[in-house]
Amino acid sequence: MLDIKYELTTSPKQKPAADDPLVFGTIFTDHMFMMNYETGKGWHDARIVPYQPIVLEPSAMVFHYGQEMFEGLKAYRGPKEEVLLFRPDKNIERANNTNRRLCIPEIPEEDFLQALKAIVKTDADWIPEKPGTSLYIRPFIIATDPFLGVRPSDRYLFIIILSPVGPYYASGLKPVKIWIEDEYVRAIRGGIGEAKTGGNYVASLKSQVKAHDEGYSQVLWLDGVERKYIEEVGAMNIFFKINGTVVTPMLTGSILPGVTRNSVIQLCKEWGVPVEERRISVDEVYEAAMNGTLEECFGSGTAAVISPVGELRFEEHRFEINGGKIGELSQKLYDTVTGIQLGKIQGPEGWSVRVDE
Ligand code: COI
Repeated sequence: MLDIKYELTTSPKQKPAADDPLVFGTIFTDHMFMMNYETGKGWHDARIVPYQPIVLEPSAMVFHYGQEMFEGLKAYRGPKEEVLLFRPDKNIERANNTNRRLCIPEIPEEDFLQALKAIVKTDADWIPEKPGTSLYIRPFIIATDPFLGVRPSDRYLFIIILSPVGPYYASGLKPVKIWIEDEYVRAIRGGIGEAKTGGNYVASLKSQVKAHDEGYSQVLWLDGVERKYIEEVGAMNIFFKINGTVVTPMLTGSILPGVTRNSVIQLCKEWGVPVEERRISVDEVYEAAMNGTLEECFGSGTAAVISPVGELRFEEHRFEINGGKIGELSQKLYDTVTGIQLGKIQGPEGWSVRVDE
């Protein structure tokens, strides 16, 4: 159990107006959670302080070798004004998997959950109410040793910041156009592709800029070895509905194990929709698009929720999916996942966690 000290702001910020579009990741709340780590001392000094710049030495290891991890989850206001988190245990479990891979000290699960609940409770007034909005939670850990040698740091900072957000894509639920990348790769098996860390995202920027320039929102990655099998989008996992069966790439070590991905698979199983986690090649997707069996395609992610894909481009081929419109299953998944997140639909045991319990 953490002993969290509170230093609350004396000058609260102006909250966004009800009709503010809440462009993803641009607005931050009044407070943040912080906790330090030092070898021999462990995690200590848990505190909630006003949101503010942090001071680090230019030699802090995070700036040089990228030893950092992050997570993303959301808080929602339920029908009885209660504040709900969606499957925080899954994010905490993944956070510690990332920590182990990056030689960052783990955070005890109950302490992580306590910190999440405490900061969200403190700034609960910032949870936006408009449909399609939520309070995005960004926990992260950085290595702070002032040292230029390559080794795991002995000191870390764990921070949680909060941001009221609208849809991740400016187009909202309108299907996005995705570019299947055949030049660069994001990750390879044995690397850090399944860890949630900045390195995977910086690796994606070059392709993302290229795709944006061509009018595409995101890049869909192929495996780094054969450059043949579909992996993920970076900001989301990917699903195809082919001839009535939902197919998503199996987790091979280079794909981020998304919490929403896991939820989609569970919901499909519950509804009796056939779902397969397996290797799926870009040729198979192209063929299905050509012979009319590719019925739907959508991405899943915390930020992206369920994002329908209306067009894929691979090399010189462009193919529209479901007439560029959201499919029936994608819509049902979006409605169900957001319904559970908002406490309007009863989800499976443990999916909705109140911050005051
Ligand atoms: C999330 O969905 O929470 C993510 O971390 C994706 C991020 C690129 C916005």
